[in-house]
This record gives sequence, C-alpha cells and structure tokens, in this order.
Amino acid sequence: MPSDPTRLASLTDSCCAVTGLQWGDEGKGKVVDLITPGFDGVVRYNGGANAGHSVVVGDQRYALHLVPSGILYPDTRAIVAGGVVVDPDVLIKELDALAGRGVDVSGLVISDRAHVVMPYHKAEDELREQFLAESERQGASDVGADPAAWSGAGDKGASIGTTKRGIGPCYADKAQRATAIRVADLLRPDTLRERLRTICRVKNATLGGLAAGVPGHAAPAFEVDELLEWARNAGERLRAHVTDTTYLLHDMVERGERLLFEGANAALLDVDHGTYPFVTSSSTTALGIPAGTGLPSRHVGEVLGVMKAYSTRVGNGPMPTELFDDTGSKIRERGREYGTTTGRPRRVGWLDLVAVRYTAKLSGATGLAVMLLDVLAGFDELMVCTRYRLPDGTETERFIPDSATLEGVTPVYERLEGFAEEVVDARARADLPPRARAYLELIEREVGAPVRVIGVGPERSQVIAEEPVGV
Ligand code: IMP
Repeated sequence: MPSDPTRLASLTDSCCAVTGLQWGDEGKGKVVDLITPGFDGVVRYNGGANAGHSVVVGDQRYALHLVPSGILYPDTRAIVAGGVVVDPDVLIKELDALAGRGVDVSGLVISDRAHVVMPYHKAEDELREQFLAESERQGASDVGADPAAWSGAGDKGASIGTTKRGIGPCYADKAQRATAIRVADLLRPDTLRERLRTICRVKNATLGGLAAGVPGHAAPAFEVDELLEWARNAGERLRAHVTDTTYLLHDMVERGERLLFEGANAALLDVDHGTYPFVTSSSTTALGIPAGTGLPSRHVGEVLGVMKAYSTRVGNGPMPTELFDDTGSKIRERGREYGTTTGRPRRVGWLDLVAVRYTAKLSGATGLAVMLLDVLAGFDELMVCTRYRLPDGTETERFIPDSATLEGVTPVYERLEGFAEEVVDARARADLPPRARAYLELIEREVGAPVRVIGVGPERSQVIAEEPVGV
C-alpha cells in the first residue's frame, strides 16, 4: 500500500513543531519535507548554521543550513525568527545557490532581532576549542591523567567538539549584550563603526589571549574598516528580507494560517536541558519556540518528535549506549553516519529510550517519527536501553542530564530478536516484518507516544506515514 502524506493531515490542523529527540541528525529534514506542503510558513527558531539537512523536491536535492525548507514551496513562507543566529556568509551563499537553481528566494524573511554570527565568532569558536584541548593535554601531562576522559569522544577533554560555526561565541555575545550585533544593526552601518571599534578591541584582546595558549597559533587581528565593509555588504544583500518576524507570525496565526516550527540541533543538545556542558548554545526543544519566535506556547499545537531507531552523537560528552565494536561499525556504515555539517564520523550506539522518554516529555511530543529503521535490518538481536544502572547498583528510568553523573551509568537493555528482512520497500506498517513492528511497539510503550512516521530508507519515498496502530 503506498504511503500517503495526506494521511498526516491532522498534523496540519494547527501549528506543528518538528524537533529532534536525541543528539541531532535524526532525519528532521525528511519529516519536515514530508509535511511542509500543508503549512503556510516554516519557521526556524533556534541555532544557526551548525544545523544542516538535505531536502529533496522532485528530483532535486538541496542542502540547507539556515534557510527553512519552506523556501522550496511557492505557497509556504520561509521565516528565520529572532532566536536564530544568522551567519550572513552562509545565508547569502545558500540564497545564491537556491536562486541559481531557479528557486524564488524573495519570500524569505529574517528577524531584525536575530543575532549575527560575525567572522570573529567563528575564529573564537575554533581557537577556544583548540585552547581547551591544549590546556586539557597540558593538565593531563602535568598530573599523568588520561586526557581521554570522555568515552568515545574524538578530540577528548574539556573541549565541546563544536561544529566551529561560531554558535557559542555568538550566543555568548547575545547574553553579554555590549558586544553583540543583531541583523538590524547591519542595516545601520553609520552607527556600527563606533561599536565595531570597541568590539575589535575586546575581540582582539580575547583572541590574542587564547592564541597565546595554543602553540604555533598567531593571534588573529580584526580591523574595524574590514568588518564594517563586510557588515555593510551583508546588510545590503539581506535588507529586503529583514522584518519584525514576531508581528509577522502573530498576524499569520491570527489569520488562521498554520506554521511549522522546524527545530535545529536536538533535545539532548539543549543549553538548559541537555547533557551540559556538551550541548549547543540554544533552546533546541519545543520549549524554545515561544522565546525564539515571540509566539506564546499555546500556538505550538502538535509536536512531532523525531528519533533514529538507534543513537548517534557528534562531538564530545557522555553517551551511555555507545558501541565501540563491530556492531557499532556496522550501524555506522549502514546508516552512513558521517556529519552533514562537518563530515565527522558519528559516534553510534543502541537506542536509548531513557533519553527519548525524557526528551519527548520536554517537548510534549504528541507523536514520534522513527527514522532509519532500515539500518537495523540484518542484526541477530537488537538491544534497547530502557533503564540506567547507577554506580550504587540502583536502577532508574529517569534521564540524568548532568554529564558527570551520566558518564557513570550503565545501560540496562531489553533484548529483542532482530529482523533479517530489508524493510526499504515497506510503505505501511503492516508491510514490516513482525519483529520490526515489535521494535516500534516497544518504543511506543516506553515513550508513551504513537509512532506516526517511520523512515525506511534514504530516498524521499522510503517512508511510512499513516495513522498509528497500538497505543
Ligand atoms: P555547536 O553547536 O557548534 O556549538 O556544537 C556543540 C555540540 O553540538 C557539538 O557536540 C556539536 O557536534 C553538536 N551539534 C550542534 N549542532 C548539531 C546538529 O545539528 N547535529 C548534531 N550535532 C550537533
């Protein structure tokens, strides 16, 4: 039976959020892609160019980092709200690439209050990570400790393993205020010069201090005139798109138009509720929508939580179900688990339902999208973590977002028989082998939300979207 996206129509009855329930890269792009045509606007509310997904429309594949996927549909507005941090270089490149392929980008709107990722933010992100890795290395050699303190992390230690897109330094400036630049400021180059004078002094001093702690790294020197020129060009290029998106969004909902909130990054990377400090710097759950858009939470409506059928993580920090063996390698290869933004091989592990149960609760998930189920075909057994064992031997069903404590837990698994059959051609839940269905039913039982979308392959059509059975 062919899957029919219109059977997800109830998701479009109100506004709807699509949000990642793990550590990112769950396949939100594919889900957004599937349901976007039913909405009047697609809204990004958090994060920046650290996110990335590809969207397929017709036979065309588009890689998007900042521009909401609504841009690809003539009747859907693409809105970048104030909670996003905008890197004009990435945004302009993305707009040019889209326009070059015949996409009308004139309808994109960007909040005048979104903060700007400046060139020195990217320099600081990179340098800070190097500085932290270096000081960790030095600290470890001082005390003879193992610098590989965090299990499975690539460049281990105090560094976060960021995407180096300037996200953390930009949000830090937003909180610092005096050194921040918002999109509206790009449109006022005359008043920007004075601010950039101060900012350059602060940034060059900070970056110089960090560079001094990284052997062989010259201190970067940012100049006012150069930055001003860059800002002026960016402002002129983006001017036609800049508006007060808060009023725009309120006007849209008052007219009864429906919005799709497209979460970036994912819940366990949330700055307040994730595995801090190994998180990104914004509110990545559906909780971030009101603050990031200016719309009260009653407008959020349905929340579709997107998860992989297993776990992955990029960057550092604890990951209780991480696999270091051949099973892990097999999942990585079958799932092509290499970062879209950085190309880094992703850390992989069994499905962690303690984590998903927690994040589904945070976002108020009314339904689940379980992606990449096809990757799990051909395994003799499938392990699903439903509890953690603490160092004192007690067990808990609750997630522990404190990284230092989470690092000490041992996953307690339910063992399920694997399914040998490939599922890439399944277009209805009934087409799946019984053991794959049992896997989904376990997820529904443990998380307490129905599975409404199932990803069964990389192609756009390889998806099961129907009203749920069970729960
Ligand atoms: P940042 O957002 O670049 O500061 O990176 C902070 C952490 O979040 C790092 O571990 C990144 O790998 C991770 N991260 C940020 N965005 C994403 C994403 O969209 N997918 C997966 N990991 C992400």
